[in-house]
Formats: sequence, structure tokens, C-alpha cells
Amino acid sequence: MGNDAGLIEKINRLRKEKNAVILAHFYQIPEIQDIADFVGDSLDLSRKSAATDADVIVFAGVHFMAETAKILSPKKKVLIPDPNAGCSLADSCPADAFREFRAKYPDHVVVSYVNTSAEIKAMTDITCTSSNALQVIQSIPEDQKIIFAPDKNLGNFLNSITGRDMVLWDGACHVHEKFSLEKILTLKKEYPHAKLIAHPECEKPVLLAADYIGSTSALLRFVESDQGNEYIVATESGILHQMRKRNPRKTFIPAPPIDSTCGCSECIFMKMHTLQKIYDSLNEEKFEILLDPEIIERARKPIERMLEISS
Ligand code: 13P
Ligand code: SF4
Repeated sequence: MGNDAGLIEKINRLRKEKNAVILAHFYQIPEIQDIADFVGDSLDLSRKSAATDADVIVFAGVHFMAETAKILSPKKKVLIPDPNAGCSLADSCPADAFREFRAKYPDHVVVSYVNTSAEIKAMTDITCTSSNALQVIQSIPEDQKIIFAPDKNLGNFLNSITGRDMVLWDGACHVHEKFSLEKILTLKKEYPHAKLIAHPECEKPVLLAADYIGSTSALLRFVESDQGNEYIVATESGILHQMRKRNPRKTFIPAPPIDSTCGCSECIFMKMHTLQKIYDSLNEEKFEILLDPEIIERARKPIERMLEISS
């Protein structure tokens, strides 16, 4: 803690000197969430990136989120503290394979979840996040065919609630597809009053058993307004920090994955950032997100359409 206090002081000094802002996703370690200028889900973070007047954005999140910040604020210096903070879901949709897939459905509109590379966004008509996916889909005429990429679980969930038949890319997230329904049901016996709340990237059996399904910020809002006291949370366990902070009297239990000795589910990529790496990133202005201006131009349109639809 003593060390952290020294580091935090140095981070605060540097962010002031450089007119920098630290944006952190809800899945970051608690120490980073607590020093961030803003903590949010992927949609809120993209809105903040577009609106900030800082010169430097230090993005404590995964690579596609930092890329989105760069696309929306191309003149700003966008830094990611650990350049290896990727995303298994974004990686499940490589650009060349997706180009071939899209070519098979020339009359389809492409909706892609923001969890994609800038190249995929450049092939997309409208992006969405888990917060606004339903709104985005509903903004498209009923008779217009749609390709939805890359998360098949979110795509199936959207198909089931809208009655549409979107063509789905076969991608998934290594955290959300690993929750064990069997272990969740055992936990439910231990906590009979606990409600199961789940992110729509979870697999169908978990979603069918859930009392509430929502994006990270929707889950957060739900536990704040709901009358219950105990929740089993089926999403990345970083969100529990905000849930506990905002609801100190309630109990939050991470949903167990199929194989883990720690009993919790962590995104290895989100957890790559540390306070030390945030300091190094600010101090040495590394690791900068650099994108081809043409890709920025093409990728910006679908993100801006999403922001307009969900404004
Ligand atoms: P949110 O859009 O809810 O922030 O989720 C992003 C993500 O990476 C989920 O795994
Ligand atoms: Fe990607 Fe899954 Fe990590 Fe979210 S939790 S950033 S979808 S790997």
C-alpha cells in the first residue's frame, strides 16, 4: 500500500503535467479503477474518448477499446499500458476470414460488436456494444438481412429476443463461455435467495438460468436498484469491485468457471495492466496506438452511427 501511495502520487503529478486522462474498464484491477478519471463499460468509454479535451488518453482496457478511442480522437495520443492486452473474442474474428465470410452475404448489413479490430470495424456498417446492441438491431428495418459478428452468444441472444435470424460469426470470449452451469446451480443451493445475473456473452444454458441479463453497466444498475441482497455474477470478476463499492451491504459472488482453482473468472488480458505500467506508460508515453489514417476514416463511420443511435 505504501508503494502504491508513492506511485499514485507520481501518476497524479504526471497526468496533470501532460494533460492526460486515465480511462479504465470495469474489469480492471481495483487499484486502477480507483485512480482512473473515469471507469465505465465499453460504450461509456468510447463516449468519453470522443468527448475528452485531454491531450493524452491512457487506456486501461483491452486493445480494441484503445483503438476505438484512437479512431474517435485521432489527433490525441492514445496509450495502452501493456500492448499485449488483447481480446480472445476480437481475435476470434480475423480480417481475411471475415472478408470472405461477408462476401457470401452481399445483401446483408454488417453489425459488429465493438470487440473487434479496427480492420473489422472498417468492414462494418454499424458497431454495437452489449449496452446498445438491441437498440442498434431495432434501428434496422425488419426485412433487412444482417450479419452479426463476432460473438455468437450475444448474437443468439439478440436473435431470440428480436425474433430475427441474423447470420452469426462463430466467435466467443474465453471468460464468458467458461461459466459452469452445474457449479452455479450448486452455489444457488448454498445461497437460495441469490439472483443469477449474467452478461449476454455467456452461453445459452447460463442465460436461460439467469434472473437478469445485461451489459456490465446494466448489471451494475440492476444490483443498485433491485430489492435483493445476494447476487451470483456471471461476468468478469473485476465488476465485483464496483458492485461492492456501490452496495456495501449486499453480497456478490463470482460465478464459477468450469476449470479454475481460484473460483473466479478473470480476463487475462484486462488484468495485464498494473499501476506501475500506468506510470511507465505516462512517463515514457508508451505504448502508443497507431493506425493507418484510411482505416481510421473507414472505421469511424460505423462507430459514429452507433453513437448516434444510442445517444
Ligand atoms: P461491456 O460492453 O459490457 O463493457 O463488455 C465488454 C467486454 O469486453 C465484455 O467482455
Ligand atoms: Fe475480450 Fe472476453 Fe476479455 Fe471482454 S472478457 S475483453 S470479450 S477476452
